[in-house]
Amino acid sequence: MIPEYLISFNTKDLKKEKVDFLIVGGGLSGLVVAYELRDFNTLLIFKNGKEGSCSYNAQGGIAVAINEGDTPYLHKKDTLEVGYYLNDENAVDILVNEGIERIKEVINMGFSFDKKDGEFHFAKEGGHSKNRILHSNGDAIGKSITDFYFKKILESNIKILDNYFLIDLISVEDKITGAIVLDETKNEIFLIQARGYILSTGGAGMVFQETTNPSYITGDGIAIAFRRNAEIIDIEFYQFHPTTLYIAGAPRFLISESVRGEGGILRNVNGDRFMIDYHPSGELAPRDVVSRAIIDQMKKTNSNCVYLDLTHLKKEYIKERFPQIYNFCKKYGIEPSKNLIPVRPAAHFLNGGIKTDIWGRTNIENLFACGECACTGVHGANRLASNSLLECLVFGKRVGIKLKEENLKLIDIDFKYSFHKKMDVLIDKEDLRRSIRSLMWRNVGIERDQESLKYAFEKLNEWKKYAFWKEFYDRIGFETLNMLIVANLITQSALIRKESRGTHYRKDYPIQNDQDWKKHIILSKNGVEIK
Ligand code: SIN
Repeated sequence: MIPEYLISFNTKDLKKEKVDFLIVGGGLSGLVVAYELRDFNTLLIFKNGKEGSCSYNAQGGIAVAINEGDTPYLHKKDTLEVGYYLNDENAVDILVNEGIERIKEVINMGFSFDKKDGEFHFAKEGGHSKNRILHSNGDAIGKSITDFYFKKILESNIKILDNYFLIDLISVEDKITGAIVLDETKNEIFLIQARGYILSTGGAGMVFQETTNPSYITGDGIAIAFRRNAEIIDIEFYQFHPTTLYIAGAPRFLISESVRGEGGILRNVNGDRFMIDYHPSGELAPRDVVSRAIIDQMKKTNSNCVYLDLTHLKKEYIKERFPQIYNFCKKYGIEPSKNLIPVRPAAHFLNGGIKTDIWGRTNIENLFACGECACTGVHGANRLASNSLLECLVFGKRVGIKLKEENLKLIDIDFKYSFHKKMDVLIDKEDLRRSIRSLMWRNVGIERDQESLKYAFEKLNEWKKYAFWKEFYDRIGFETLNMLIVANLITQSALIRKESRGTHYRKDYPIQNDQDWKKHIILSKNGVEIK
């Protein structure tokens, strides 16, 4: 049984801070909301430094239909095709059309994208019918654009608190009335009260053993929202990025899809090019197709990786176009213009999440969500490459606009909670995290079936039986319980969906079944809804 809250507390005893808006998460969507709410008493908290978000680490770029010969219609068409038509079409229309306005806005604010001969350079990535990826500092769009917004925010009155971890939101009758926050530096718990609460906490890559995500991405916002009875939708659709560096001891560093867009070739351990056997677009097929093809090749050749071949590209070109990737590979003794880069897939992006409307509103009053933890339905069953930072710009702005319009009131309450039946059980948090990650990778990964999913579901439920009787007092403990909740939701949803679609591939149901399954699975504390 999942506890209502992760700790015992009495709001009367806690130090309090009152603000207009509380934003949790320092990735691009949170920063965009904060910037939009800069004229209010807005507080932005995050747990892990500005470098700790997935946005900061993004490499490829931002997709936008402004190149010659491109149109929002074509961008929409590609987004729907790659999303296997499970997308919310209205959300996609907003993304591709307002995306153009947001890109123009950010350029007018002073942000610069890379140019070639004085014109924007548009890169190509998987699933795109046109070259439409704007990039910055080669392969460093994430760092460039989050630094840009941080600078803007630091120049405003917005208050930023780093090393602050949201333990739980408090709700009374499905209204959020406060946030219980841990100040990790002082090891102090306090209460923040706001008129509106915005979750922009990112995905949950850390529930899988292999992930491109930084180590803090533990699904906190999704687990917190679930505890508050928010609806969680499409969570079985976890995208696996095909190409992350695979060297023993090195992090699963992303080797951007734009590397394949600039001519990178995938070869198996025997040196054979294989992608063309799987999809007419070859290396630039949608990500789900490339990831499964790599797994297939690894099985067929009995090897634990495939290789990305850039040896036909000039060293100076690779260095200039992909400086981060070049330097990272070099540190591990790989010179990309001479050596093949060992790669394999890793968990990358959560397509589903906290269900929101097109303004970021959840089913809980005062609670908004945006970015990867949220799901407007824009991505469907698989996200088109480089649509995620665009999503942050578009839907982050919308959340800010809506919060300014809505006349939300701060609700002052006294609230007391005693942690449900406590048990003094010793738990090695690191071991539990490792176990969750390994279980998920082996059983709920790129390929799943009834047997593997059922096994994972039962194991997770066994672990929940004792882990949830434990009252933790530190971030790692809280994160571990959040991971357990999110892993459980992903597995439950994947068990229910008896078809293959996009990033959800069931070996026992390999066919897409539109008749029965062009539907969404919504999980909440009230149960399961399929519609
Ligand atoms: C990449 O550079 O391949 C990642 C971009 C994305 O996730 O869309």
